[in-house]
Amino acid sequence: MTQQRDFPDWDKLYREERVESLPWFNPTLDGDLDEALTKLNISTGMALDLGTGPGTQAIILAERGYKVTATDISATAINQARVAAGEKGLDIAFRQDDILNSNLSLEFDFVFDRGCFHVLPPNRRQDYVLAVHSLIKHKGYLFLKCFSHLEKGESGPYRFTPKEIGDIFINGFNVVSVKETVYQGTLDRLPQALFCILEKQ
Ligand SMILES: C[S@@+](CC[C@H](N)C(=O)[O-])C[C@H]1O[C@@H](n2cnc3c(N)ncnc32)[C@H](O)[C@@H]1O
Repeated sequence: MTQQRDFPDWDKLYREERVESLPWFNPTLDGDLDEALTKLNISTGMALDLGTGPGTQAIILAERGYKVTATDISATAINQARVAAGEKGLDIAFRQDDILNSNLSLEFDFVFDRGCFHVLPPNRRQDYVLAVHSLIKHKGYLFLKCFSHLEKGESGPYRFTPKEIGDIFINGFNVVSVKETVYQGTLDRLPQALFCILEKQ
């Protein structure tokens, strides 16, 4: 049985820290997402940045022409990201929303989760799968970045093997690929990560 981990009060964190100092802050588009969108030839459509935090990924996707919705459990993160997008004149639908109790009712061509799933309690993972499944169009994609089993240590986000990803998403998704990669951000040593392409069945 996986030991339950502690995570910060997300809203307090965003109230107290500058987003640029957070380990996951990445002002460029996640390289693995960029590659996947090119490979799958997805250049338009509706995108959800789930657990958007600083909103950097949502902003770049909107700049590239996707119709973007961005959600986070933290109202402070959403307010700050909305301001950042507004300064660039971008039209992004920002919503405070808990994916484990979501009020969203749209269907997206793809959902990008860069760091939300891997901080959720293990006993809520199937609730996450159901919720995300309902937010994706038939044959749409979940692009999931999470910590890899290759990342050492016991603190921080949960780690996953490719097999665990396959087992967790077996109901409702085809695993297109799971790649060992890194989690780009502000740390000197970038954490080992998985980038998973999951197609809704
Ligand atoms: C590691 S951060 C990544 C932020 C962002 N995706 C990025 O790459 O910069 C994880 C984010 O998930 C959000 N989060 C945590 N639990 C959540 C939940 N149940 N529903 C929605 N967002 C959640 C946190 O507030 C935080 O912003």
